[in-house]
Amino acid sequence: MAEPYQTIIIFGATGDLAHRMLFPSLYNLFADRLLPDDMLIVASGRSAMDDQAFRGSIDLQRFLPEDRYDPETAAAFLDRIRYSAVGGKPEEFDEIRAIVGDRLAQGVAVYLSTPPSLFAPMVEGLGKAGLAGPTVRVAMEKPIGQDLASSREVNDAVNAVFDEDRVFRVDHYLGKETVQNLLVLRFGNALFEPLWNAQSIEHVQITVAETVGLEGRVSYYDGVGALKDMVQNHMLQLLALVAMEPPASMAAAAVRDEKVKVIRSLRAMSPETVGSLSVRGQYGPGAVGGEPVKGYADELGKPSDTETFVALKAHIDNWRWAGVPFYLRTGKRMPERTSEILIQFRSVPHSIFAKKGRGLDPNTMLIRIQPQENIQLQVMAKQPGLDRQGINLREVALDVSLSTESAGQRRRIAYERLLLDLIEGDPTLFVRRDEVEAAWTWIDSIHQAWTQANIPARPYTAGTWGPSAAIALIERDGASWHE
Ligand code: BG6
Repeated sequence: MAEPYQTIIIFGATGDLAHRMLFPSLYNLFADRLLPDDMLIVASGRSAMDDQAFRGSIDLQRFLPEDRYDPETAAAFLDRIRYSAVGGKPEEFDEIRAIVGDRLAQGVAVYLSTPPSLFAPMVEGLGKAGLAGPTVRVAMEKPIGQDLASSREVNDAVNAVFDEDRVFRVDHYLGKETVQNLLVLRFGNALFEPLWNAQSIEHVQITVAETVGLEGRVSYYDGVGALKDMVQNHMLQLLALVAMEPPASMAAAAVRDEKVKVIRSLRAMSPETVGSLSVRGQYGPGAVGGEPVKGYADELGKPSDTETFVALKAHIDNWRWAGVPFYLRTGKRMPERTSEILIQFRSVPHSIFAKKGRGLDPNTMLIRIQPQENIQLQVMAKQPGLDRQGINLREVALDVSLSTESAGQRRRIAYERLLLDLIEGDPTLFVRRDEVEAAWTWIDSIHQAWTQANIPARPYTAGTWGPSAAIALIERDGASWHE
C-alpha cells in the first residue's frame, strides 16, 4: 500500500452530503486512527466564513450514533479543518493552494461534492492554481452527465487536467460491506461458481426500494428520474458484480475490466421492445409506514412526467447469461427500504417425489444488502414426521448473517471505505470512465426508446410496490418479484 495522502480538500463542504456523510465518515476514520496523524482537511463552499464558523456548523453528534461521538475526539478532529470559500473567482483557488503549501508533495486528495455542473470549472480552477499535478487525485460524486454525450464532456474536461488513473468516480454502493461481499461470495467459494450461469440460473432480480420521497431535492430530481438516478449507477454496479467473469486478481484494472465487459453486453432497448421490457411509474398520494404522504406532483408543486419508479427486464448478451433475464426495479415511496439480489435457480430436471402437498420449489439465493446484511439459501427438505404415502416436503433457509455486528464490528458508513481508499490510492471500488460511458450507452437506449414510444409514467399509490404493470412484467414470464 502506498503512503496515504496527508491532505484532503472537500468542495461542496457546506452541502448536505458533506454534512451527513463525508464529515462523519472522516471523523470515524480519525477516531479509529486510520488517517495520518497530521491530516489536513480543507473545506470549501460558496459562502464566506472563517474556520471557527465552519467548524461550528458541523453537527457530528446529529449524524453519528451516540456511542461513536466523543467530544474530545470531535474537538481534535474539527481542529484539523480549515475553511476557504470558492465562489467563482480564480484567486480563490490560489488561497486554497496557499493553505496546502508544502503539503502538496505528500499528496492531496480532492473530493468534488458539488453539483456536477461545477466539475469542469472546478478542475480547471485546480489546474490553474497548480493543484492538479501528479501528487493530486480527484474524486467526484455521481451524476457524471445526464447522458452519454454530456458525460463525455465532463470526462473530457476532467481528463484534460487529471490523468484517468488519478480520477476516482464515486458510487457509494461500492462502499457498502455486503456489496464487496458479493465478490468474496462468488470468488472466495468453490461452491457457487459452477452453478453461476444460464445452465443453472433461471433469472436474477435486483431490487433497490426506498421509503423516502423527494426529500427536498426538487431541483435535482425532477427531469432526472429513477432510471438515471439509480439504475445508471448503483443498480448497474450491482448487476456487474453479480454477472461479471472471475477477474484474474483483485487488482483494480482486473476487476474493472470484467465489470465493463458485462455492462457493454447489455442488450439495448428500442422503441419496439421498450414497452414489453420496462415500466415507468410515479407515486401518487398514499401512506408509508402508517403515515400519510403526498404524491410526487404535490411535493413538486406541479405536474411532471418524471419517473420515481422503474422496472426493467434486462438481457446480458454473452455466453454465461444467454437467455437469463435480469429483472431490475427501484422506486421511491415503496412499502419498505430494502436492497437485495435474488438468484433464482432452475427447477430439478425431474421430480421423484409424489405430487401431493407442496411441490418442489426451485432453490433461491437471496443476498440482502440493506437494511439487513445476510445471505439466505432456500433449499427443499423433508417435513418431519412418519409420512406413509410418500415424503412431505418443506422449504428451509440456510441463513448466513454477514452483518458487521455479528462479526463484533460496528457498521461503517459506505463513505468511510471510499474516503480511505481515495487517500490511500486504491481505485478498485471507484468507477472507471469506460464503465460510466458503457452504462450511459445502455441507459440512453432506454430513455430514447421511452421518448420515441411515448411511454408514460404510470401512477402508483405511495406505499405500494409500484404500478401493477411492473408485476405483470415479471409474471408474464411465470415468475414473481420477491417480497
Ligand atoms: C443516491 C440517489 O445516489 O442514492 C438517491 O441519488 C437515493 O436518490 C440514494 O436515495 C440511495 O442510497 P442508499 O445508500 O440510501 O440506498
